[in-house]
Amino acid sequence: MKTLNAKKGFTIDEIETSEDIAIPKDPLDRIIGQDEAVETARIAAYQRRHLLLFGPPGIGKSMTAQAISFHIQAPEHEIRVVDNPESHERPFIEVLTKEQVFLEHESKLAMDGDLIDPENAPADIAEKLGYRCSKCGMYSSYTEVECPSCGTIKGGAGKIPEGPFKDILGGLGGLLEVTMNRAVGNESIKATRIVNGSEEIVAYEKAGDKIKILNQRALEKRREHAKKRPSKVLVPINRSPFVIATGASETELLGDVRHDPYGGHPTLGQLPFERVVAGVIHDSHEGVLFIDEIPQLGILQRYILTAMQEKKFPISGRNPQSSGASVRVDAVPCDFIFVGSANIEDLQYILPPLRSRILGNGYEVLLSTTMEDNERNVSKLAQFIAQEIANDGKIPHASREAIYALIDEARRRAKYYDEKPNRLTLRLRELGGVIRVAGDMAKINHKPLIEASDVNTAIKKVIPIEEAIKRSIERGDKPPVSKITKTPYYNWNVTEEPHGYD
Ligand SMILES: Nc1ncnc2c1ncn2[C@@H]1O[C@H](COP(=O)(O)OP(=O)(O)OP(=O)(O)O)[C@@H](O)[C@H]1O
Ligand SMILES: [Mg+2]
Repeated sequence: MKTLNAKKGFTIDEIETSEDIAIPKDPLDRIIGQDEAVETARIAAYQRRHLLLFGPPGIGKSMTAQAISFHIQAPEHEIRVVDNPESHERPFIEVLTKEQVFLEHESKLAMDGDLIDPENAPADIAEKLGYRCSKCGMYSSYTEVECPSCGTIKGGAGKIPEGPFKDILGGLGGLLEVTMNRAVGNESIKATRIVNGSEEIVAYEKAGDKIKILNQRALEKRREHAKKRPSKVLVPINRSPFVIATGASETELLGDVRHDPYGGHPTLGQLPFERVVAGVIHDSHEGVLFIDEIPQLGILQRYILTAMQEKKFPISGRNPQSSGASVRVDAVPCDFIFVGSANIEDLQYILPPLRSRILGNGYEVLLSTTMEDNERNVSKLAQFIAQEIANDGKIPHASREAIYALIDEARRRAKYYDEKPNRLTLRLRELGGVIRVAGDMAKINHKPLIEASDVNTAIKKVIPIEEAIKRSIERGDKPPVSKITKTPYYNWNVTEEPHGYD
């Protein structure tokens, strides 16, 4: 099982079922038939170059872009935005290395202290924090005002309010007072304890069902932390190295500063630095920024080219009506590998200076729609079938005969779709559709494997809508539209092939 490797080559006769075919670990090796694109992608990843991929839908452009991100180093830096006390509307950028982020995390953990059960804290501390009844010694949550066992009001909270009704209110006055707060006891108590013969200050704090102990070191870390300028993580260290920005708006692409309805009021509002939002150009810092269908970006392409050139791009409030408009953060890093894709007909809609920057520091590749029909490529296509079945996860494996039938279909599609006889199609998303429908047929018929008959049923079922309309008109139905415009899908599935296509 899983021993047949398409890189080494195998014949279909060696396969019992698609389960015998090994699926490569390297995502680039899962891309079938696009050898030039794959080779260029390896170079682009290694040398951090940009890449433009051209070709029709469903032939592996997005797959190639994503595979690059598996071949680059994981992000090494975190980007923070820090308050500028002299001018809140000009926050600073701080870039931390992975080590710095780690050390800070450790120090935060130390600052967090240890959690203990209230029963393990000194009794007087547990009482003052509202966990222990001072009368009967029963433990309960500090949210329980009265001791559930003896009814005493806990945590010194049952103080009788001073005033004219002190005598009649008695304990009840205290009860009302604390019930409104839904908690009893102090939030935090400082105490001393002896550790290894010397005395140290510790703080005990409420922490849900537990009590948190902060030792001297944790208290020092807290004081250190309080002295730091407030900041927020803009682009975290643990981020995906692959960011897709297809159809992104200007704010999604470049970042923004959110509006503050309280106009930055010191207590109600949020300081500007807290309202800064990164764009995808920043999220993809040190990673891959992938834009499918570049022409859709229109004029926004010019920002991409500036960002690519400078490797940093400011973030400012993009809505002039908003209080964010007066805020600006300069020099936010955005050092990404740009991968874009487009249909070759749309070449004219890609800004020439953008293409020039890609060609100046990268590659353009045209993906193929068919590949040579030879033994190596047939085994690759079989690997593709195994991959699609594994990825789908809901359909059974394919029998050898089903694999033969799918390979025949790949031949037929190359001929009728691309007018390339004796080749194999690489319009693999759609061939994947046939595999899934065939898998569904096998599944609903409770078959352990996809059989050739399932593939043939699927081929008849998966017909483009233009063809369905044509057939319905032939049956005498009224045309749903006056004219069907010819699309690449029109007519491609109509053949006089011998093995049962309608
Ligand atoms: N060359 C290929 N090798 C292996 N699988 C492929 C290949 N091309 C397409 N596929 C299959 O089709 C799916 C879609 O491919 P992909 O998203 O890369 O297409 P695309 O070229 O980006 O299309 P679009 O232009 O519509 O975005 C993939 O997830 C994969 O299952
Ligand atoms: Mg795509």
